[in-house]
Amino acid sequence: MRRVVTIDGPAGSGKSTVARIVADRLGWRLLDTGAMYRSVALAALRAGVDLADEEALGDLAARLTVSLPPGQVVLDGRDVSRDIRTVEVTRVTRFAAQNPRVRQILAGWQRAFAAENDTITEGRDQGTIVFPDAPCKFFLTANPTERARRRHAEFLQRGESISFEDVLRDQQRRDAEDTERAIAPLRAADDAAVLDTTGRTIDEIATLVESAVRCSLGESPFSEPPLS
Ligand code: DC
Repeated sequence: MRRVVTIDGPAGSGKSTVARIVADRLGWRLLDTGAMYRSVALAALRAGVDLADEEALGDLAARLTVSLPPGQVVLDGRDVSRDIRTVEVTRVTRFAAQNPRVRQILAGWQRAFAAENDTITEGRDQGTIVFPDAPCKFFLTANPTERARRRHAEFLQRGESISFEDVLRDQQRRDAEDTERAIAPLRAADDAAVLDTTGRTIDEIATLVESAVRCSLGESPFSEPPLS
């Protein structure tokens, strides 16, 4: 039986970076479930499928192949790692996230991935819906201004021109959609450790998460031998 650790939280909470660092340190695979929702949205844009048409989007998702080899997102055999991070794809991915059939299909892909690999998975519903029995769950938060600042910096780094105010406005809309949607809303599992990353470094949080995971596995969280 493979092991799975879930890290959920809103956009900009730091969960993607923390999940990547912890996966690297443990030698486990990272499952970026947001990349799967983004890939479905990108495929719909490219195929000219009406994203608001639930049935058509579900049919499209059922025909797609999305794989996550280390460091890459591959949609139907092509690397889309960068294409799925644009402002446009970020805005329309909500149609994929709100679509019950798409969610069901992607949950199947996610469980298949975790059946093959020791996995750090990150998303919105990993601890609540997809892996409710995971022994180790985290929910990361941060205040909205700090989250928007982090997202804005990411867009600028990728050469996308968007104002901070627009990022904050988009984020508020996405937070509301993620938390208020009827299906798989963003929320912490009852048994998740909730960590506020505001004002803390990503490395600090990653070390905390890594230590907690190692403890739950029965390993010592300390790499140095104890003082004699
Ligand atoms: O984490 P992200 O920004 O890459 O996620 C992209 C979108 O997909 C975002 O609107 C939330 C949604 N999502 C989701 O509904 N469930 C997940 N498990 C992961 C992402």
